[in-house]
Amino acid sequence: MWSYYNPVEIIFGENKFKEVHSALKNKSYIIITHPEEIFKKYSDELSSSSNPPLSIMTDVQPNPDYKDILELQNKFASINKTVDYILAIGGGSVTDTAKAIAAFRDKQEYLTDFVRNKKNPKVENPIKIIAVPTTSGTSSELTCWATIWDKEKNNKLSLAHKTLYAEKAIIDPSIMIDKPLGLTISTGLDALSHSMESIWNVNANPVSASHAIQASKLVLENLPLLAKDLKNIELRANIARACVHAGLAFSNTKTAIAHNLSYPITLNYGIQHGIACSFTLPIVTRSMIGIDKIAEERLQLIFNDNLENSSLKLSEFMRSLEVPLNLNEIKVPVQEWNNIVDDAFLGERGKNFIGNKDAFISSAKLMGLF
Ligand SMILES: NC(=O)c1ccc[n+]([C@@H]2O[C@H](COP(=O)([O-])OP(=O)(O)OC[C@H]3O[C@@H](n4cnc5c(N)ncnc54)[C@H](O)[C@@H]3O)[C@@H](O)[C@H]2O)c1
Ligand SMILES: [Fe+2]
Repeated sequence: MWSYYNPVEIIFGENKFKEVHSALKNKSYIIITHPEEIFKKYSDELSSSSNPPLSIMTDVQPNPDYKDILELQNKFASINKTVDYILAIGGGSVTDTAKAIAAFRDKQEYLTDFVRNKKNPKVENPIKIIAVPTTSGTSSELTCWATIWDKEKNNKLSLAHKTLYAEKAIIDPSIMIDKPLGLTISTGLDALSHSMESIWNVNANPVSASHAIQASKLVLENLPLLAKDLKNIELRANIARACVHAGLAFSNTKTAIAHNLSYPITLNYGIQHGIACSFTLPIVTRSMIGIDKIAEERLQLIFNDNLENSSLKLSEFMRSLEVPLNLNEIKVPVQEWNNIVDDAFLGERGKNFIGNKDAFISSAKLMGLF
């Protein structure tokens, strides 16, 4: 028994950014985007059109923080006009910020109740979102959740609500052509992590799994080539397509243990999300030996090999991208790591994982984590 759901309309292709004009025709909207100069041309194009935005919000930093979103809510409050749509042009940080504003508008008390008082999010009739991703990694354009960080309290929250899917995702690989090497690798590995995490997952189903296998294969085949040829639009498109499949996979399962392990590593050691959530993938892969026949078969399809060899191939792949694979390189002390592992297996995402802690720990030793 299983069900599958994803309501986002996907428009995919080179130079498809122009589709935003017809999508927003006769609608009022604001733009949320990154502050860097390279993004200005997209908001400029809309500002000089016959239907300019009511406001352009550019104060979005990587890993959106509670305090930053409060500031944006102040700005939103000053608009004083009906906002039909939010156009989010950016990476996961922008799309997730757009979701927070769409959900809570100018109601700062709703955001605070959710982030600080641990109440269920009060989401009523959120503003519609059109997402134009500029990275290929989070697939936030295809999920109904957003990661909000509370750096002051050393916390990470997942705002999740079935009304928070974007209405449309306009995925234009040409927008991603200037992504630097580090960001290309870390976001590509985030997509790989979402895919694999959706396979060793209590919520996996045959449709999510076939998207996950397809996504993983595309990342493994294309990311090393793209790392050597960053301006290659065909490779960019392949990775963007991988990210679509990854989103269609994990939008139905959520993530699992590798993501739960990653959050304190990002918060306390400053490791980028895509690296933090992927450096354990070879270990988790090996820990799946003998755990679940169906998951094992699905993982074997990615590498066309048994799981022991698959985990070694995955390590080699990550090494070729210069990803740190042991605690020395990640700079996490062993005692701290042990605490992170204990907490991760108890956390919400950890409970999605169909494997177990003992197998994970022995696999970590075998794979040279220490
Ligand atoms: N909602 C979800 O389902 C989900 C899933 C995974 C991760 N996340 C969250 O998403 C955030 C990370 O998002 P991200 O990895 O997409 O990065 P990001 O949005 O944080 O962007 C990182 C940096 O890359 C720059 N950038 C973005 N696009 C670029 C481009 N085309 N060219 C050059 N520079 C560009 C940005 O200006 C920014 O400085 C984290 O907060 C993470 O926790 C959300
Ligand atoms: Fe992720």
